[in-house]
Amino acid sequence: MQLIDGKAISAQIKQEIAAEVAQIVNNGGKVPHLAAILVGHDGGSETYVANKVKSCAECGFKSSLIRFEAEVTEETLLAKVRELNEDADVDGFIVQLPLPKHISEQKVIETIDYRKDVDGFHPINVGRMSIGLPCYVSATPNGILELLKRYNIETSGKHCVVLGRSNIVGKPMASLMMQKAYPGDATVTVCHSRSKNIQEECLRADIIIAALGQPEFLKADMVKEGAVVIDVGTTRVPSTLTKSGFKLTGDVKFDEVALKCLFITPVPGGVGPMTIVSLMRNTLLAGKKAIYK
Ligand code: GUN
Repeated sequence: MQLIDGKAISAQIKQEIAAEVAQIVNNGGKVPHLAAILVGHDGGSETYVANKVKSCAECGFKSSLIRFEAEVTEETLLAKVRELNEDADVDGFIVQLPLPKHISEQKVIETIDYRKDVDGFHPINVGRMSIGLPCYVSATPNGILELLKRYNIETSGKHCVVLGRSNIVGKPMASLMMQKAYPGDATVTVCHSRSKNIQEECLRADIIIAALGQPEFLKADMVKEGAVVIDVGTTRVPSTLTKSGFKLTGDVKFDEVALKCLFITPVPGGVGPMTIVSLMRNTLLAGKKAIYK
């Protein structure tokens, strides 16, 4: 069994980005600028956004954090999105999800200029991704592809099971794994809450990507010997063992599943750090106007 070290790979990629930014600045270019909008004080979102801001500094980017209280109106939030769309200094920006119930996430996403949508959530980016055109690919699936690549994990002709069908992980992941590319060229099955034969499907899989948000869902008796298991789960489970009072728990029962795997990602330290670094890669592309002029 080989552990996939997302923490180490992400640190390496941040160094690569920082070196490129230094070169851009040396040549008189502009420092890439990422803005993030955070609404309310959800613990998970606070942590994710703080990590994004910290990663920007590590990459040599400029970052701006724009905060609103949870009671902000949809119109005020949309006005800020439009303002960032027009702000020439901002290369890319994100609105951290989830948003309070009175605000339509879809409306917010569709108001973001797709050329600044470094989360890759806008329908134009999602559509372009699904037909293999240059675009901003959403961070978690992109981070997983990068891990597969950096560990030289074979995907062509493999049977890949994606657990979960969310718009930000399951659907784009399935789409990317079936594309004519490396990583990709896999035969993909997507399982979700209404699937009837998940154990059977998983037992056939060479690669399992678990993104259900159900702590320790994937057990050893669902995994074949020699499988590659990627754990996207990041549920905050209450714990008396940590200072913060919770423990980040994946969708895979790690201790028993790891024994059967060729490769497996840990939680934390697997997919999580790669998600943030993928956002940094998209921000660099935005700064360079590499995808859209
Ligand atoms: N909430 C959970 N993941 C993400 C993400 O990748 N981007 C944003 N904006 N919100 C999230």
